[in-house]
Amino acid sequence: MTRVAWVTGAGSGIGREVALELAGNGWTVAGSARTQSDLERLVGDTQGLPGRAVAYPVDVTDAAEVEAIVERIETDLGPVDLAVLNAGTYIRFGAEDFDAAAFAQQLNINVMGTVNSLAPVMRAMIRRRQGRIAVISSLTAYRGLPLASAYGASKAALTNMCESLRPELENLGVYISIVHPGFVRTPLTDRNDFPMPFLMEADAAARHIVAELSGNRFEIAMPWRFVMILKLLRCLPYFLYFSVARRIPK
Ligand SMILES: NC(=O)c1ccc[n+]([C@@H]2O[C@H](COP(=O)([O-])OP(=O)(O)OC[C@H]3O[C@@H](n4cnc5c(N)ncnc54)[C@H](OP(=O)(O)O)[C@@H]3O)[C@@H](O)[C@H]2O)c1
Repeated sequence: MTRVAWVTGAGSGIGREVALELAGNGWTVAGSARTQSDLERLVGDTQGLPGRAVAYPVDVTDAAEVEAIVERIETDLGPVDLAVLNAGTYIRFGAEDFDAAAFAQQLNINVMGTVNSLAPVMRAMIRRRQGRIAVISSLTAYRGLPLASAYGASKAALTNMCESLRPELENLGVYISIVHPGFVRTPLTDRNDFPMPFLMEADAAARHIVAELSGNRFEIAMPWRFVMILKLLRCLPYFLYFSVARRIPK
């Protein structure tokens, strides 16, 4: 029986590579993003693979639209077995250009966009007592990093949300995981003008995520060296942490 996955943010970067990897493993992938042409390219690129991708364009900040898309996917392709909620962006600003509207926009896309996607798919999975969900957070969720007050807060919110849901969902037959990637080369990070330690290629990140999703592990984090460093920083008392954070290039 064909397994059905829904990947948001499937038009580029990590989401596109996850969709390709899943299609390579025989999955039928419903790919969502706002840019139709990106999704058409994804669909074309899955031709010849054991699985396929089907385009379901949507803006995840529109809750009603997302609800309708999930319903359409399930009608067209069958029940969603796996949801990879990956759509997101990085709006960068510091203390001097701190901006409430930009902060709200960041939270709306990264947090509410994910929540809008999670609600209908999680409801359907709970009804069936079966399903797998992966939410793409970031290693920035571990601790506040320079110029990432909004981005980091949005990702920390997702991590905390998944920690809260995991035990309850387990009892309902649904497994939710949080994904904490370090720097991955994508159109998003191509904009960065600072050194990105332990930068990973998007296809390698996607292979790691998809391989881990065959198990039920809660946290999927990569690359491991960067994860260990940031886990260590998370344990430091504030005065030590800030002495390191002050030296992080902006
Ligand atoms: N790259 C990294 O180093 C890194 C590290 C940690 C975590 N992450 C996270 O990984 C996820 C993917 O990032 P990426 O680096 O692959 O970025 P990317 O290449 O910019 O891809 C983001 C995808 O999300 C979609 N998207 C953005 N806003 C959307 C909206 N409102 N509705 C629907 N789709 C939307 C984009 O398509 P449209 O613009 O066409 O909608 C695009 O397909 C993000 O959540 C990001 O925070 C990335």
